[in-house]
Amino acid sequence: MALTELPFLFGGDYNPEQWPEETWEADMKKLQAAHINELTLNVFSWSVIQADETSYDFSVLDKVIKLAAKYGMQIVLATSTGALPAWMVKKYPDVTRTDSDGRHAGYGMRHNACPNSPHFQQLAAKLVEQIATRYAGNPSVVCWHVSNEYGGLCYCDNCAKAFREWLKAHYNNDLAAVNAAWNSNYWSHTFHAWDEIVPPTHLTDMIDAGSDKPVLGGAALDYRRFQSDSLLANFKMEKAIIRKFDQTTPITTNLMAAQKDLDYYQWAKEMDLTSWDNYPSFDTPSSETAMDHDLIYGLKQAPFMLMEQTPSQANWQPYLALKAPGELRMQSYQAVAHGARTVQFFQMKQSRNGVEKFHSAVISHTDAGGEHETRVYKEVQALGKELAALPVDLRTSRRTARVGVLFDYPSWWGVEFATGPSRLMNYMQQVHTYYQMAYDAGLDIAVVGKDSDWSGLDLLIAPVMYIADEAVTAKIKAFTKAGGTFLTTYMSGIVDEHDNVWLGGYPGTLRDVLGLWNEEWDARPPKTTVGVKLASGEQVRGTFVCEIIHPTGAKVLATYDDPQLFYTGAPAVTENVYGQGHAFYVGTQLDEAGLSALMQQLLAAAGLQPGAQRFNGIEITRRYSDTHQYTFLLNTTAQALTVANPAPTGEDLLTGYPLPEQVTLPGYGVAILQSAR
Ligand code: GLA
Ligand code: ZN
Repeated sequence: MALTELPFLFGGDYNPEQWPEETWEADMKKLQAAHINELTLNVFSWSVIQADETSYDFSVLDKVIKLAAKYGMQIVLATSTGALPAWMVKKYPDVTRTDSDGRHAGYGMRHNACPNSPHFQQLAAKLVEQIATRYAGNPSVVCWHVSNEYGGLCYCDNCAKAFREWLKAHYNNDLAAVNAAWNSNYWSHTFHAWDEIVPPTHLTDMIDAGSDKPVLGGAALDYRRFQSDSLLANFKMEKAIIRKFDQTTPITTNLMAAQKDLDYYQWAKEMDLTSWDNYPSFDTPSSETAMDHDLIYGLKQAPFMLMEQTPSQANWQPYLALKAPGELRMQSYQAVAHGARTVQFFQMKQSRNGVEKFHSAVISHTDAGGEHETRVYKEVQALGKELAALPVDLRTSRRTARVGVLFDYPSWWGVEFATGPSRLMNYMQQVHTYYQMAYDAGLDIAVVGKDSDWSGLDLLIAPVMYIADEAVTAKIKAFTKAGGTFLTTYMSGIVDEHDNVWLGGYPGTLRDVLGLWNEEWDARPPKTTVGVKLASGEQVRGTFVCEIIHPTGAKVLATYDDPQLFYTGAPAVTENVYGQGHAFYVGTQLDEAGLSALMQQLLAAAGLQPGAQRFNGIEITRRYSDTHQYTFLLNTTAQALTVANPAPTGEDLLTGYPLPEQVTLPGYGVAILQSAR
């Protein structure tokens, strides 16, 4: 059955191989009583299936799958290639990775296979073929889960060889073109033979162990692209094998928010649907979780699976804070609000040993033999009951937004490879700052890539878009000329795709659309601010970096106003009219008041209304089907809060009633208003 026709999948990772067989059936009963209807199986069982290179033993997995089916569980079946068996590493040491300090890993851990190891590739292919032939067509299997949380980098000799092949393929077999792209005469980096090129490590081309700052940025950027492609090739290989035996069941792998190692925009093209693992920490702002969901939604502009979240504690966080009563429910609905079509957990039963023994689960230590019904179990159970009653229409409904925030992997890599402007440069934090600016205005936001479809957007915000190539420049110009409102910031448009600075004044190719050029930027020391005066006269503060802007047509919206700065009086924020549209530039990181004023100006330029209410702790997020609008009200705090009802004609799906004009939600309270479109 297609995933879209199934009930809301509610389940997650179950690792029965860690437990005696006699306990499994009691687990099934307990899970079923909590409305769990899905199990993710076989995530880390390679060494259980294969005791050596040639034998395969599926007796455990066969039994588990049969038992799951008996209890009506749908199965998300993993391929188990995320952790290597000990015999394999012993026999073929090249299957593990070499790190950027040149250390080659021995046996242990997980997520550490070298993507370019021929032995890993062959052995993974054989395993996946066995699994796919055996379980393809099993009516309980509703989704394939390839490997687990792909990520990490390898710098081994096999990767070095594969890197040279990747370069040949990308530079038309022309070494001179590589030298030209990287401008490699710098520090005697001119290459005269392909095999002179090595991965940039702390033993080779990183200037300073501990901080990944390469000498040749263009080479390091290509190495990043190559490593993302290498892992993607592993995914594609497994997917192709599964497809030989199963032509219809969707194939995914669990992504991890905005993880730096992989260019998810490239990955999403190869995935049938996206899925991701959401682990907010006790102090993660709700806007950051919202941004992560929107990023994953935006990869395919389509609903995604929430493949994992913890029912309460996550063992790997620095402080194992509990989720308060209601918090898990609110976070689950936040995922649904942003486009999740499943709600899944890591994990079903808390491990008895191992590094995750203090990671919470639906069935906890306290409850392992059915002794107690815990608070967390009861919360999961109540949530499962609610989700089962939600309309089918909601699961496939879409998100729409007229405000977009641009997120770009190469810019992330490139700007953090650079030794300037400041050690405080954290690309994701920068993207979040501007996402939050729109989130706080109460707006639905799309996170988009350079290649995404921007046609639904009226406003596009591109924070720290370090790399501007010719293609994105043309796209931004066309967007703005046609009436779009564009905003970019300091440290944008600095280099081309090979990390060569655009000459003639920053921000290079974007000068024209922005109507300005920058002469210099000044990094400010940590925890210091500078005075900025808005055109309205309002005084706000700037921080992090201050750029010295020369408008060539742009109107000045704010200036530095601070006697400590030699450039006091110079423009800090500008707006340019370009074609039918407007292009804004922010030369310093503004404080909350500054960003809020800026947001008002952006909305006015874009002809957009602010949200009905500024974010006050209650997030308001919408999904749309052909027939309905679903408006989620999510109290992201522990205190009761009130908002004006944003959809007064709607009926709350969780209580069955319309809501009053002023809606008060208890701490972590949720309402989902369904209204006709
Ligand atoms: C990741 C992994 C899971 C598990 C959880 C714990 O998301 O995919 O196997 O280790 O972390 O939080
Ligand atoms: Zn390698």
